[in-house]
Amino acid sequence: MKAVLMSGLGGIEFLHIAEHPDPVMKEDELLVRIRATALNRADLLQRRGKHPPPKGVPDILGLEMAGEVASVGPACEGWAPGDRVCALLPGGGYAEKVSIPAGLAMRIPEPLSFEQAAAIPEVFLTAYQNLFNVARLAPGQTVLIHAGGSGVGTAAIQLVREAGGISLVTAGSTEKIARCAALGAIAGWNYQDGPFAPWVAEQTGGRGVDIVLDFVGAPYFEQNLEALAVDGRMVVIGTLGGAEVAKFSLRTLMSKRLQVTGAGLRSMDTARKIALTRAFSEFALPRFANGRLVPIVDTVFDWREVGDAHLQMESNVNVGKIVLRVTG
Ligand SMILES: NC(=O)c1ccc[n+]([C@@H]2O[C@H](COP(=O)([O-])OP(=O)(O)OC[C@H]3O[C@@H](n4cnc5c(N)ncnc54)[C@H](OP(=O)(O)O)[C@@H]3O)[C@@H](O)[C@H]2O)c1
Repeated sequence: MKAVLMSGLGGIEFLHIAEHPDPVMKEDELLVRIRATALNRADLLQRRGKHPPPKGVPDILGLEMAGEVASVGPACEGWAPGDRVCALLPGGGYAEKVSIPAGLAMRIPEPLSFEQAAAIPEVFLTAYQNLFNVARLAPGQTVLIHAGGSGVGTAAIQLVREAGGISLVTAGSTEKIARCAALGAIAGWNYQDGPFAPWVAEQTGGRGVDIVLDFVGAPYFEQNLEALAVDGRMVVIGTLGGAEVAKFSLRTLMSKRLQVTGAGLRSMDTARKIALTRAFSEFALPRFANGRLVPIVDTVFDWREVGDAHLQMESNVNVGKIVLRVTG
């Protein structure tokens, strides 16, 4: 098969399409002909050698894909060649073929294209896991979502809305905030205009939010704790602005009974990923089918333009996902 390979670690000049051995399918796996894959921030870090794949995972980039089942392992039930599927991957998405445990496959709802379906797994499963399983979102609760226009942000806004919650967002432009509002956010703060914590206090009548989904990390840490209500939960999903918090008092956690926790999808074992995929599919696939949930695709590139796609993500201009169409 062909795959995007790296001839070195660093800039986009190291990315090129070349021949690679086909994946070997196990008995409980589906071999999938990939039609589309999507970018993640982790790909940019892996390209630079800062986020190596977990042990045993191929070093081909790509944490998700959509395609057609090409062959079905003898221990798999309910699947047939030609079925349209999308799935989370530990790696290997920037390729023509991948072999996946059947339990990770999600049937693509009828109205969606491969490009739209490739935009679902990583960001929607991340948002679902952290909102529902980690932060225990309940109807009526308020969630502050940073980087609201990001892939994970745009997924989270929709899931909060569908769960009967209320979302506030921050983002770096009024255009991004308008897009977030169209997806269901009740208000947004442009972080270029100053600190967000006073705005959150104003929006919540001084109470604070129940949950913070944070992608920014250290520069937001103190304000995030300030913005949380009593019994609030914060999930650190990314550290786009830095990971080292210089100084912080544990007393803040005690006085408001706060919980601060971290997220990591890639390192989760397969059994947990399968359980998450099953729960998410039950909640979300009917909603993708009837249009209540929408994969947000910013741009579709041919995979020969993978370098341009990476540069676009690095420039922070996207709202939603950047997708690669895998052509023959
Ligand atoms: N832990 C996990 O399991 C997991 C899974 C998936 C993703 N993630 C992480 O989640 C984050 C979002 O991923 P994504 O794929 O959704 O990203 P994305 O679509 O590329 O969007 C990221 C956005 O974050 C904003 N941003 C970047 N640097 C910032 C900074 N220093 N301060 C404030 N905002 C900043 C930018 O929007 P503005 O214009 O608003 O600045 C940018 O467009 C990444 O850190 C990614 O690594 C983690």
